[in-house]
Amino acid sequence: MAIQKTLVLVKPDGVRRGLIGEVIRRFERKGLKIRALKMIWLSKEEAERFYSVHRDKPFFKDLVDFITSGPIVAMVLEGDEAISVVRLMIGATDGRKAQPGTIRGDFALSIQDNVVHASDSEESFEREFAVIFKEEEVVPPY
Ligand code: CMP
Repeated sequence: MAIQKTLVLVKPDGVRRGLIGEVIRRFERKGLKIRALKMIWLSKEEAERFYSVHRDKPFFKDLVDFITSGPIVAMVLEGDEAISVVRLMIGATDGRKAQPGTIRGDFALSIQDNVVHASDSEESFEREFAVIFKEEEVVPPY
């Protein structure tokens, strides 16, 4: 058992399309615990810090514009191997290539507007968590 925490966002496209409940439902059914949950609208500066690993990519400006284009829902999920389990459940970045049955495979047809984000490593989780949450927003294990 390696209990991990991971950070998931329902991105502005997912919120606009009314997919918040659908996304949360899948993670709850899987048995992951929600340790923190909130709706926020990221500033440009927060978005740039959140996606700092992509700073030099050609799509960085479009990505920051997209992720700040509307409110998002952010959550911390916890469970055994949560980082890799959640990455499997969301599917490949490009919604056109993501497997059916995954969130992106079922709901996305774009590489940018791909409904959800999830941490890809413990290091990413730490950076992403620091941008979005305060420690006191995380409930104790239950
Ligand atoms: P995410 O998993 O949140 O990580 C970085 C995000 O950048 C990704 O999902 C997409 O929303 C976006 N992204 C990744 N690759 C591309 C690309 N080639 N073109 C446009 N956006 C991209």
